[in-house]
Amino acid sequence: MNPKFSPDKRADLLVSKMTQAEKLHMIRSYFGSPGGPKGFPMPKGALGSAGYVPAIPRLGIPALQESDAGMGVANPHGARPGDGATSLPSGLATAATWTPQIAYKGGKMIGHEAWSKGFNILLAGGIDLVRDPRNGRNFEYAGEDPLLAGEMVGSFIKGIQSQHVISTIKHYAVNDQETARTTVSAVISKKAMRESDLLAFEIAIAKGDPGSVMCSYNKVNGDWACENKYLLTDVLKDDWKYPGFVMSDWGGTHSSAKAVNAGLDQESAGEQFDDKEWFDKPLKQDLADGKVSEKRLDDMVHRILRSMFAVGLFEHPPTKQPVNRAADKRVAQHTLEAGAVLLRNEHDTLPLASSTASVAVIGAHADKGVLAGGGSSVVVPWGGNAVPGLKPTEWPGPIMYQRSAPMAAIASIVGKSKVHFAEGDDIAKAVALAKRSKVAVVFAQKWAGESFDWVNLKLDDNQDQLIEAVAKANPNTIVVLETNGPVDMPWLDQVGAVLEAWYPGSGGGPAIANILFGKVNPSGRLPVTWPRSLDQLPRKDLPGAGGHGTPDKSVDYNIEGADVGYRWFIAKDKQPLFSFGYGLSYTQFSHGTPKVAAHGHQVKVTVPVQNTGKRAGADVVQVYVKAPGADAPHLAGFDKVSLKAGASQGVTVSLHPKLLAEFDTASDDWRIAGGDYQVYVGSDAEHLGQPVNVHLAAGKLAP
Ligand code: GLC
Repeated sequence: MNPKFSPDKRADLLVSKMTQAEKLHMIRSYFGSPGGPKGFPMPKGALGSAGYVPAIPRLGIPALQESDAGMGVANPHGARPGDGATSLPSGLATAATWTPQIAYKGGKMIGHEAWSKGFNILLAGGIDLVRDPRNGRNFEYAGEDPLLAGEMVGSFIKGIQSQHVISTIKHYAVNDQETARTTVSAVISKKAMRESDLLAFEIAIAKGDPGSVMCSYNKVNGDWACENKYLLTDVLKDDWKYPGFVMSDWGGTHSSAKAVNAGLDQESAGEQFDDKEWFDKPLKQDLADGKVSEKRLDDMVHRILRSMFAVGLFEHPPTKQPVNRAADKRVAQHTLEAGAVLLRNEHDTLPLASSTASVAVIGAHADKGVLAGGGSSVVVPWGGNAVPGLKPTEWPGPIMYQRSAPMAAIASIVGKSKVHFAEGDDIAKAVALAKRSKVAVVFAQKWAGESFDWVNLKLDDNQDQLIEAVAKANPNTIVVLETNGPVDMPWLDQVGAVLEAWYPGSGGGPAIANILFGKVNPSGRLPVTWPRSLDQLPRKDLPGAGGHGTPDKSVDYNIEGADVGYRWFIAKDKQPLFSFGYGLSYTQFSHGTPKVAAHGHQVKVTVPVQNTGKRAGADVVQVYVKAPGADAPHLAGFDKVSLKAGASQGVTVSLHPKLLAEFDTASDDWRIAGGDYQVYVGSDAEHLGQPVNVHLAAGKLAP
């Protein structure tokens, strides 16, 4: 218990005092809510959440109170009646800010809310790559690029853990679709995996030091992820020297000795979610039979305790206290203000003047709130769902609306009497309102959630017809999207402006209004490629998506390999609707010729950036590198810079060495081939400036 000792030393001292029963106690968690698949009562001492490990008072080991998840503190099925929390916008919105400091602040805010509610583990840090825009959980993740995702989620994790709450990076690994998520096998070569999905985890873990990694439901190359020795031991614990613990997903444990010897350290909620409680009797038997060594059992417990010491769970136990709701809501709002992406703005439709005579607000319950994604990550606002009763009300529902109405926020800018609302289901009524209004803002939504994928990217419930009809009735029509990610927009050329607001979170209303009326200059850049159609993707069909058709037993990610997203589009010479890294501003920026300085494999690129427009704004300098023989450039560094009108600044970006290298499976390390590398500065992945050549010597990087 001496805080002067290292976490490892403290864990060693503690493990040496534990009985076998106490060790076995630590390596299993319980479902922390009433009900659950087998309907057990809530364990005594649990708070009403996803997971719970009782304390061991004899040894001063605190209980582990585990809550979901990446947008804020969940309240599964109202297990904590009346308890509300602040919801960040989608993980994609945070990624779209391209500002690690914003991710840190978001993590810190939800970490503090978790701590203030009694939790010391937040099952947050979703980072599975967006290989498919239909994936129902993309809103929980950070996009298609391993560097952007790794940097953003790594900072997010640091923010959470700054509040003495363990963050759990997930879902490890290649859990890149929800269809048949508990059985599908992701088939992908080691090289491709290391250069894409695993690289995102590697960068985030190196940056954020998450106390825990959650292994995923799916199989990887035929082996369950939670008993996959290559993933859990060879890569995570040997190559990356990960010191923390691996917990399973809820229902992701399928064995005792095999899983333990592959690297699984804790079975999550096995009593309720696994077909048997593997880490109870079966593991005791395996220990007795010598199939699992006492040494490995000690290692499992050591890893859990070490993370608890490292994140400060012993010295800083959660203290139940009210949270500063207004301040926390501002964190959510500022995140969306920096992460909403302006996709279209013809004839400067935006920003609107606050003197606008009349504004029609239409659709997506914009008079009540903003949409959230479904599943275990859903955050219940104080006061409950802003739009209760929408089906499905049960899993993966409820369909939650955060209490942050765009209409009220718009009214606070233009004046209440000038704003009128029409729901989108009555197109004639909406058109009539649009006709008699100066400006029409149509909110369009497409709900997504855990455990299912979208069948397609179409807006449902006649929203396309609604938008087309309103655009005909009013030349100043603006569409605000509340979606899981890219959607089809057949009406795109008929509207003045389109803003992607993702799932906007607890500050969504004011954030959207501030952008529409120019109080905030939008600076979000897409963290995902926006396809023109599904047949541009590596897999046009997703059998079984949304419960339609029979899911495949495996999904072949070797089609694109590590060329996820923009790298696929460039390698296959396909033009997306909007590129990775794309986003408009109310001002304009120009980039001068980049200067490249290489010292060994440390490459720095300095880019002159000028704000050539009439108002202050922020630009994202994106540096892409094309290695000799590579089929597409990779994002290798980025930085966001704020500049006043007319101002200019030299922005220096350091390139991540792993993005200059290729993984060499035979030698199990990263190789920089050497030769001439082309360095580009782009305003997005498709619009790259003239390349600057830099010669790099061949070399190796640690795996
Ligand atoms: C869920 C999710 C995981 C979540 C866990 C606990 O099924 O896959 O992200 O943290 O179970 O709710």
